Amino acid sequence: MALTQAATWERELLISTRNTSLMLTAGEGEPLKFAYYGDRIEACERNRVHDAWIGLNKDAYPVFGTTCNFAHAMQVTHADGNMTLDLAVSDVSRESTERGEHVSILLKDRKYPFELTAHYNALYDEDIIESWIEVVHREKKPVVLYRFDSSYMPIRRGDVWVSHLHGAWTAETMLTSEPLNNGLLEIRNTDGARNAHYAHPELMFSLDGCPSENSGRVIGAVLCWSGNYSLRVDSDNSQVHHFFAGMCSEASYYKLAQGESFVTPKVAYTYSDRGLGGASRNFHRWARNGMVHGGDKQRDILLNSWEGVYLDVNEADMVQMMEDFAQMGGELFVMDDGWFGDKYPRKKDNTSLGDWVVDNNKLPQGINYLIEKAHENGIKFGIWIEPEATNCVSELMEKHPDWALQVDGRKVRYGRGGTQMLLDMTNPDVQDFVFGVVDDLLTQYPDIAYIKWDANVELFNYGSTYLPQDKQSHIYIDYHRGLEKVLQRIRAKYPDVVLQACGGGGGRAGYGVMPYYDEFWVSDNTDAVQRIYMQWGASYFYPSIAMAQHVSASPNHQTGRSVPLKFRFDVAMTGRLGMELQPKDMTAEELEFSKRAIADYKLIRPIVQLGEQYRLVSPYDKKGVASLMYVSSDTSQAVFFAYKMEHFTNMNVQRVRMDGLDADKTYKITELNVPLDKQPCHLNGKVFTGRMLMNTGIELALNSEYASRVFLLEAQQDYK
Ligand code: DGJ
Repeated sequence: MALTQAATWERELLISTRNTSLMLTAGEGEPLKFAYYGDRIEACERNRVHDAWIGLNKDAYPVFGTTCNFAHAMQVTHADGNMTLDLAVSDVSRESTERGEHVSILLKDRKYPFELTAHYNALYDEDIIESWIEVVHREKKPVVLYRFDSSYMPIRRGDVWVSHLHGAWTAETMLTSEPLNNGLLEIRNTDGARNAHYAHPELMFSLDGCPSENSGRVIGAVLCWSGNYSLRVDSDNSQVHHFFAGMCSEASYYKLAQGESFVTPKVAYTYSDRGLGGASRNFHRWARNGMVHGGDKQRDILLNSWEGVYLDVNEADMVQMMEDFAQMGGELFVMDDGWFGDKYPRKKDNTSLGDWVVDNNKLPQGINYLIEKAHENGIKFGIWIEPEATNCVSELMEKHPDWALQVDGRKVRYGRGGTQMLLDMTNPDVQDFVFGVVDDLLTQYPDIAYIKWDANVELFNYGSTYLPQDKQSHIYIDYHRGLEKVLQRIRAKYPDVVLQACGGGGGRAGYGVMPYYDEFWVSDNTDAVQRIYMQWGASYFYPSIAMAQHVSASPNHQTGRSVPLKFRFDVAMTGRLGMELQPKDMTAEELEFSKRAIADYKLIRPIVQLGEQYRLVSPYDKKGVASLMYVSSDTSQAVFFAYKMEHFTNMNVQRVRMDGLDADKTYKITELNVPLDKQPCHLNGKVFTGRMLMNTGIELALNSEYASRVFLLEAQQDYK
């Protein structure tokens, strides 16, 4: 990118999208200052920002050194031991891109040959501004980076609330909202490998008090990094909350050689004055436009074998499951864990990872036979792998014991099954191996249409036999850089295979990897009631098209709860619908209902997967009901979902007001997924104006425990 001539740029740099603006003050030879982020302003208003004292005049990227009493985004130690930075604007470049504008500001240290470029990439239609930094130096010996956040943003204090996700295995993406007060709030995750179980590197700031779905100003931020991270909101006694986001620097100081460039992951910001829902829809659009692989392609309805047979994969069951699912109208079958291992067959979860060859005892006619059977039944075939992991009982570990992360002279700490280890993704040979797992499968079986890529072990043993001793502190970062290299190679060669990111449930749900994966597994917990909460939380940042949601057996295997099949379908249908059970255990009525539900989902699939989402009544508000809807981009069609979350006699369930419709259009309601023994409800076939549906709302008549409703809304021509 060509840099403009010195001082030819405008001092007040306005970076805008359709509805938002970010303003920086970039005086040559001065520190780069952050002035403003929010509602779009025009070039002629730039000075007004300062006149009105709205400009925050904070360092745009605070570094440690000469203002070290404040929180900072970067701290380094120079080759000579000096621990300070003092950066001044040296150059600015502005470049139009297909989707907006890329602004880069070159900052140079006043004393050392150390440069930092601050990047801002504005995506006009999405109302997203991506921000990251890049550093490089010409010092004689390595410079050590001790803190290296991607981005900083000051948020004006007031009645500011923050919403973010927390959880655990089988309880991922639960939502928390809290007012910001004094002190430090840190959202971090140090799993090392799957960094989305316990927290998420995303948050939303509601600037006008208690968060609301459809009103108030909101700033959202998403760090696109799959490894350890730290998001900090430092609220000191100044007028702002200081927000920092980046890779976690703990045990990760990074030695940067002369001329080597260190690029941080990006943070995507959005701003909306339409509440949390507006900010979410911006993130969803951004995701569908490239941050989720294949984000504009509708997804197949699949059956996954895991909760149906667990590790007891066998040919007869696989064929029978495919036949049964095809009868129901399914489109894809995924054979989960348990299909592989020759010398060490995968009978339990304590062997065989790493040995990606078919177990001929379980599948005597091999995978091609299963693919043929799938095709005979008119469906596609997919397969499970966990390529970043191995068991100590495996042929792989016999051949390459040094490929697993391990600490010389210390006992290995094992994960799942008491034997599982993580491969050393910093090692290019291991990267080749992991690429080869996918490449070999897709070369040998080109008709595999879908791969579930699992990751069931955390990074326990902080030691790499590949990295030199003085670079062991690079493991956390270089692991994920290695993973990304492999994913890039896979996507370059196999752009069309559908990849699921699974991290022992939702551990790999993150924008660090989603540009390479088509979807993520939300959670190993398939209980429909708990899923309502988890899916709601995930929807703050992720679009429905990326969320794998499966109907499983009742009682549920994780919670033991029994809920009607209709409720289970109605919950799973708000994302990428799938099933995860043994169809031969279902009754004839259940099979018939499922067949109809799948047919109904095909009707609404484009609206759910590609439409705009409106969250209506939150399960977290404990109002006895939860509700959400999707609206097609031309507002001609919508799908409405509602769930009874609690049930008491004479219970007052509130009227639900819709959102996102065209007030002036009239919509006909058709109830979907009606139980075989029931009549559609009172609203079926009725026509209402969008105005009435949004302003007055509808009565739901949810009169039993775990009652639920799905309505298709279709705009009517010439209705009077
Ligand atoms: C964890 C995943 O989340 C499950 O869906 C399943 O694939 C198992 N691993 C298989 O071991």
